[in-house]
Amino acid sequence: MKELQERIQKDGICINEDILKVDSFINHQVDPVLMEQIGQEFAEHFKDQGITKVATIESSGIAPALMTAHSMGLPLIILKKQPSKVLNDHLFQTEVTSFTKGTSYELTLSSKFISEKDHVLIIDDFLANGEAATGAIRLIRKAHATVAGVGILIEKSFQPGHDKLVAQGFDVYSLARIGHMEAGKIEFIE
Ligand code: G4P
Repeated sequence: MKELQERIQKDGICINEDILKVDSFINHQVDPVLMEQIGQEFAEHFKDQGITKVATIESSGIAPALMTAHSMGLPLIILKKQPSKVLNDHLFQTEVTSFTKGTSYELTLSSKFISEKDHVLIIDDFLANGEAATGAIRLIRKAHATVAGVGILIEKSFQPGHDKLVAQGFDVYSLARIGHMEAGKIEFIE
């Protein structure tokens, strides 16, 4: 997506060869106009697939996922990060360990907001090693719902997340795919 790639070139800060800072327009300060365009792009790509809900993992995925849900006329469910397992019959949980952040959490979803009739689109800001997206898929499947696809704002294509998800047969639609980055230089692939 041209608008997102241009914005990354203009305002993204490459901390090192692995980490891109986008806190001025995605995950600390948020640009609502860009988020609306992103929502429309995902809505167009994933239209007519019988999707019933949009899901994201808190917190940085919420803004683009909400705009996607709004464009599609669907509810948004936010998968919560609990620090430890909660014993509760009405909750689905799965453990996620982030390589990027070096942290673990229990991804949590109330059974009130998902059923076996749901066909869910997952939206998230970054795809790196793919642990967060894989955890979201596991959780949705625990609820016997199905996954329609995964929409990502920024994919770091030099890390294994994209290939892991595609190998499992998922439609992964990334709006900006970074093939290589270093201080002062970000290269996209199509
Ligand atoms: P992982 O398997 O290495 O953990 O990668 P994953 O794709 O699951 O991403 C894990 C978390 O790290 C995500 O945050 C993601 O947004 C963040 N992340 C990965 N690479 C980058 C990067 O280059 N820049 C920034 N700014 N963040 C990155 P999260 O767990 O969803 O938390 P939150 O930030 O949304 O609260």
